[in-house]
Amino acid sequence: MKFSTISALASLTSLVTAALPPINVTGNAFWNTETGDRFYIRGVDYQPGGSSNLTDPLGDESICKRDIEYFKELGINTIRVYSIDNEQSHDACMEALDDAGIYLILDVNTPKASISRASAKCSYNVKYLQNVFATIDEFAQYDNVLGFFAGNEVINDDKSTATATYVKATVRDMKKYLKARGFRAIPVGYSAADVDENRLQAAEYFNCGDDEDARIDMFGVNDYSWCGDSSFQQSGYKEKVTLYAGYSVPIFLSEFGCNEVPGSRPFTEIESIYSTDMSGVFSGGLVYEYSQEDNNYGLVDIDGDSVTKRDDFNNLAEQYNKTKNPEGNGGFNSQSSNYSECPDFEDGKWEANNTLPDMPSAASVFFESGAGKPLGTNAGDTQWACGDDDDFKFSSDSTTRSATTGGSQSSGSSGSSSSGSGSSASGSGSSESSSSRGSGSNLAIPTVFNIAYLILDNFGGICLLTFVLASVIAITV
Ligand SMILES: *[C@@H]1O[C@H](CO)[C@@H](O)[C@H](O)[C@H]1NC(C)=O
Ligand SMILES: *[C@@H]1O[C@H](CO)[C@@H](O)[C@H](O)[C@H]1NC(C)=O
Ligand SMILES: *[C@@H]1O[C@H](CO)[C@@H](O)[C@H](O)[C@H]1NC(C)=O
Ligand SMILES: *[C@@H]1O[C@H](CO)[C@@H](O)[C@H](O)[C@H]1NC(C)=O
Ligand SMILES: *[C@@H]1O[C@H](CO)[C@@H](O)[C@H](O)[C@H]1NC(C)=O
Repeated sequence: MKFSTISALASLTSLVTAALPPINVTGNAFWNTETGDRFYIRGVDYQPGGSSNLTDPLGDESICKRDIEYFKELGINTIRVYSIDNEQSHDACMEALDDAGIYLILDVNTPKASISRASAKCSYNVKYLQNVFATIDEFAQYDNVLGFFAGNEVINDDKSTATATYVKATVRDMKKYLKARGFRAIPVGYSAADVDENRLQAAEYFNCGDDEDARIDMFGVNDYSWCGDSSFQQSGYKEKVTLYAGYSVPIFLSEFGCNEVPGSRPFTEIESIYSTDMSGVFSGGLVYEYSQEDNNYGLVDIDGDSVTKRDDFNNLAEQYNKTKNPEGNGGFNSQSSNYSECPDFEDGKWEANNTLPDMPSAASVFFESGAGKPLGTNAGDTQWACGDDDDFKFSSDSTTRSATTGGSQSSGSSGSSSSGSGSSASGSGSSESSSSRGSGSNLAIPTVFNIAYLILDNFGGICLLTFVLASVIAITV
């Protein structure tokens, strides 16, 4: 991984610290590009503060360094972070994670810069993509980024399937952006809610079609089906292995750890997940979640600088410790070219379009110049910014990085120190009763313009028309 000149100089004295090699994808498995060994995700979801008080735990080394000690004790190799502030520098935390042998899976959305279920079409706009690409600019430089999630649980029932079109368009744009900017081929994926009605369609949709750029490189499933002392058969894991058999890209449990058990969670599923029962189809997973929050899934209690292990922590550490990975390649599927058939459009069942919308043309400047200035928490609400595409002004940033230009790492223009995006999370993720699940669930207070758009959108109107209308309103008022 690359660091700033200062930290690179500082670390000359400790050259013995081996930097983590990138992880890549071949067939339906992850691989360590240095040793050639299969890589299984052994991880936790990391969202201290919870979805109601979203903070960027990787933008503040006092937070990440407090917790990395516990990650090491758990014996994990990956964390997933649901939201970051792309205006902050992440050098210190990414280096500390690297030193601890830990990779990152990062969701590129914030609660208000994400695809919205209320109007997916409107939320897919140039300001949204600027925020996503600026996050890629910040993180693609680190070799220990395992992958990016373009969305989390955006489809969360049988009514929200049309949103998948825009999430898949985002996947495509992210992959094209990585290529255009000369970055490493970091896997781009989607993290799915476990929805009975469309579990298989979702998996197939994101991995179908002849446009390689539009197909995901990895698929995460948030699955809470193993509760307490269950088994491969009883939990339903066996059915999932059958359901996804032959899937051509890696699948893993992007959230697991059912809490509907008396007392602490025994985490007996660990033994099953890292066994040959599962390894032909699954590549490990991430426990939801590190810190105890209102929804009661924590491994530790955090109070300021102090961290207290819960019984769940000790149980998980013990399970990870005694469970080895399967031998050899774990029976992976090498048929990478055998991607899925696109599920048919079906009213009321699967309403995602197999023809993706073109990227907003105003976003093409990013492919040449990078995303420009990261806006962090100042990006505001992009979910309703569809009418801004035409008058979007590119704001260049002298510190913009890309592999092709060899741009140097900077600490970003971190004038504002506030991290996180406030309100509820794009990736609260938890299953069941959690009050705020999934990306883009937030409905910000719409302006007159937005309401006009929403109405027109529902009547098949177009952004431009709305924009003109809004301008007329603005002028006359
Ligand atoms: C992944 O890395 C390994 C080891 O460096 C290499 O042999 C393989 O070709 C890479 N696969 C892809 C798809 O880049
Ligand atoms: C939110 O998180 C920040 C940073 O961890 C903390 O200082 C603050 O007290 C938290 N606020 C609430 C309401 O919990
Ligand atoms: C290829 O995909 C099809 C349908 O998705 C599946 O039935 C078949 O088993 C796959 N073949 C292999 C070799 O994985
Ligand atoms: C696993 O537990 C044993 C016995 O307590 C301990 O000696 C060993 O260091 C642990 N291994 C890891 C990888 O934590
Ligand atoms: C799918 O998208 C295409 C191109 O934007 C559009 O013409 C078509 O009407 C859409 N189909 C549905 C069912 O929404």
